[in-house]
Amino acid sequence: MSAASTRKLPIVVLISGSGSNLQAIIDAVQAGLPAEIRAVISNKAEAYGLERARLAGIPTHVLNHRDYADRESYDAALAQLIDDSKAELVVLAGFMRILSAGFVRRYEGRLLNIHPSLLPRHRGLDTHARALAAGDDEHGATVHFVSPELDAGPIILQARVPVEPGDSPESLAARVLREEHRIYPQAIRWFAEGRLRLEHGRALLDNQPITP
Ligand code: GRF
Repeated sequence: MSAASTRKLPIVVLISGSGSNLQAIIDAVQAGLPAEIRAVISNKAEAYGLERARLAGIPTHVLNHRDYADRESYDAALAQLIDDSKAELVVLAGFMRILSAGFVRRYEGRLLNIHPSLLPRHRGLDTHARALAAGDDEHGATVHFVSPELDAGPIILQARVPVEPGDSPESLAARVLREEHRIYPQAIRWFAEGRLRLEHGRALLDNQPITP
């Protein structure tokens, strides 16, 4: 096996909450995904995902926005932590903060997010309740490159689930989350294997534009 094929991509994962997507990535790495999680960063000290990281032996950092005067200084501190870790891919996994345009530009092409809807439908918050309120018969999740406009970056991978009669936002969220845990490690694998990139604002897989 060549050195290139055994190289592990250094990544950081940013969280704010439960960290179930982080756990899916940790599990995938342990099962052979060619990546190394250098650090997990949370804006919330109480995020359960920090515990998941500690259990996996991954360094953790908490950055509280109250310690910073404005978004730019917060994002500068965040960038410093990321760069200190030497990460080549930044993975947003339920990180509930708006990022400044400067931050997004700095990591352009190496900044991924997962959003719990079939983008471009239902950008923003409360996606499961909104899918139900709209009478959607299907819903899902999207992995995308991050661009300065919220939840609008080039789409990499989507998973669809049916909306079932009697669904609550919680039951629908649980069905979507199971798919998130499948597609996020898949997208990270493509990136780690050098198959996925952002070029001129388009996501390419194996040099072909991705058309969701
Ligand atoms: C997920 O639904 C993700 O799509 C959204 O926030 C949620 C995070 O869940 N951005 P978890 O912290 O990974 O469990």
